Amino acid sequence: MATIIAVTNQKGGVGKTTTVVNLGAALAEKGQRVLLVDLDPQGSLSSAFGVDVDETTPTMYALFVDPALDPHDAIVFVRERVGLIPADIHLAAVELELVNKPGREYVLKEILAPLKREFDYILIDCGPNLGLLTVNALSAADEVIVPLVCEYLALRGLGTLFENIAHVRRTLNRRLYVRGILPVMYDVRSSHPRQILEETRTLFGDFVFPIVVRRSIRFAEAAVIGAPILEYAPHHPGAQAYRDLAEVIINGQQRRSKENKENSS
Ligand SMILES: Nc1ncnc2c1ncn2[C@@H]1O[C@H](COP(=O)(O)OP(=O)(O)OP(=O)(O)O)[C@@H](O)[C@H]1O
Ligand SMILES: [Mg+2]
Repeated sequence: MATIIAVTNQKGGVGKTTTVVNLGAALAEKGQRVLLVDLDPQGSLSSAFGVDVDETTPTMYALFVDPALDPHDAIVFVRERVGLIPADIHLAAVELELVNKPGREYVLKEILAPLKREFDYILIDCGPNLGLLTVNALSAADEVIVPLVCEYLALRGLGTLFENIAHVRRTLNRRLYVRGILPVMYDVRSSHPRQILEETRTLFGDFVFPIVVRRSIRFAEAAVIGAPILEYAPHHPGAQAYRDLAEVIINGQQRRSKENKENSS
């Protein structure tokens, strides 16, 4: 059964989509079956793999508004072992169209339910807000990964995000688990990010992954050609960081399922 991971942060441009693309690629490289879900009307995840959405493409929007659609029909295989459900600007309408629908927070959970057996990981790329789409992601997810740019204001914004996650845990999804905060776009040349990283580790302890993704122009270059950095610059430290993250995710998973077995035996 797939582990569903929402990659979220209400701040824009903090590496959410980049994390979904490259963690997805790294998990697939390690033999895992991965489904990437574009839950952002900007459609950046779809473009990151060069998936063009036109009138005939079944997208996340269609799945949200038509429960009769089979979600399998919306999956595009962008790489071996990597499926993607695309999105485009129409998805923005969901925020309003679902507003009076009972169970509106659980629509994504129901869409993904029949796909869980076919994948090992389902990664959801959230948009930069805390609206209904993001609430759907948090209600469907087992775990959350929060990319964090090591700057003072970004660290302050984490408080709001964690309150929101705690609220979802209380009201919609008791299993929701913060898997970790991932420091990204880390600039090794200046002291401010280092101070912020230390402060983040003091505040959040083990919740901060023992991995740092450095700032590098290679990420933007990879995005231009529509490929993960793991393919564009496979030996770059940025690619290695996402492989290390995949390793932590897979090993943590094994540890948790072992603990579950031991607890239930
Ligand atoms: N480690 C990095 N170093 C340098 N640039 C990066 C890094 N990670 C991502 N970027 C670049 O930063 C920009 C924003 O990244 P990304 O699109 O992943 O953020 P996002 O949080 O998904 O944004 P949005 O909130 O708009 O969805 C992109 O141009 C991306 O290529
Ligand atoms: Mg994005």
